Amino acid sequence: MEQQSLAGKVAFITGAARGQGRSHAVELARRGARILALDICEDIASVPYALATQSDLDQTVAEVEAVGGEIVAVQGDVRETADVAAAVDRCVEAFGVPDIVVANAGINLQRGQEPDAQVAFIDTIMVNLVGVWNTVHAIAPLMVERDQGGSIVLISSTNGLTGRGGDGSGAATGYTASKHGVVGIMRSLMIWLAPHGIRINTIHPAGVPTAMVSHAEMQAWFAGNPAGHTMGNALPVPMLDPIDISRAVLYLVEESGRHITGITLPVDAGFTGK
Ligand SMILES: NC(=O)c1ccc[n+]([C@@H]2O[C@H](COP(=O)([O-])OP(=O)(O)OC[C@H]3O[C@@H](n4cnc5c(N)ncnc54)[C@H](O)[C@@H]3O)[C@@H](O)[C@H]2O)c1
Repeated sequence: MEQQSLAGKVAFITGAARGQGRSHAVELARRGARILALDICEDIASVPYALATQSDLDQTVAEVEAVGGEIVAVQGDVRETADVAAAVDRCVEAFGVPDIVVANAGINLQRGQEPDAQVAFIDTIMVNLVGVWNTVHAIAPLMVERDQGGSIVLISSTNGLTGRGGDGSGAATGYTASKHGVVGIMRSLMIWLAPHGIRINTIHPAGVPTAMVSHAEMQAWFAGNPAGHTMGNALPVPMLDPIDISRAVLYLVEESGRHITGITLPVDAGFTGK
């Protein structure tokens, strides 16, 4: 039995149907947090791989319950303020105001041949930046009003700290711009939230072999983009595992992170230090 370090806490996690988001849901639940899992569970036309499905979200529910956790799963799009508001309402009804937010939902449109650079740029910004803003904008005021502190983690990327791999495409530029933009959201909100005992930080993962990167179009992008070959880690590990990112989330949201706010935490096997 894991130590129930997050017993009594409520965690709101976006993009939780699979990949890193599912890992965060299971690991937080394992430590006693009750989980609100939000995911779009449908495709976005410009994204060159399938996004999560309802059955992926059902699998997250099953895995959280298998570790003894409580979870409410909601289908919704972080680009839509009404969807985010409905999920927050469900969370408050079921469990109360979130103590923890993990804004993790994201897309990456890099591919071999880009059909429309402007669509790729704008769609990426809408999910990865506006979606993160919609999430924290809906929840942070409730945390402030409740006046019991909290911890918000925004999932950025090594591309939130470096432009490495940039090739002039709308997808690469949009991804790097959105992931840098998340840092701006974090730094601005940190000033506002700190007096209320609410912490906010970003995590910057290097490559993780999830559905976002393990598809043929991403491999075509690597093959056609020499800059992509500079995207190796310093440590001799080709990729990280979702659990590596979940451990960083835990570090920030548990007692270990109680005096940590406003930081950009790379979990990147030395990628950005090279
Ligand atoms: N995989 C990597 O190499 C890597 C590296 C650095 C950062 N990241 C970031 O990690 C986060 C998680 O990605 P992942 O690797 O688990 O990929 P993933 O594609 O498996 O997971 C992303 C999840 O977000 C959901 N989602 C996408 N758009 C959404 C929307 N509009 N509304 C609600 N949900 C939406 C998807 O359905 C999916 O379940 C993303 O923010 C990603 O940019 C990934």
